[in-house]
Amino acid sequence: MYVCICHAVTDSQIKEFAASNGCNWRKMRDELKTGNDCGSCAIKAKRILTDSCSKSDEAALSADGKSERN
Ligand code: FES
Repeated sequence: MYVCICHAVTDSQIKEFAASNGCNWRKMRDELKTGNDCGSCAIKAKRILTDSCSKSDEAALSADGKSERN
């Protein structure tokens, strides 16, 4: 689904960005250009980025917990 119409950025692209780069809004704006024109996508794009980071952080924490027990 397109999140940023101005730059044709999809939710999948934002999730991929978050998986590789973490939850860095400024870096995402620089690389994907999301929110750099009309700005109407900014809130939704930030929410997708934040949600994606939260999930990957939880996965990392649970992976750490497992490794400490072994
Ligand atoms: S829709 Fe993203 S900058 Fe316009």
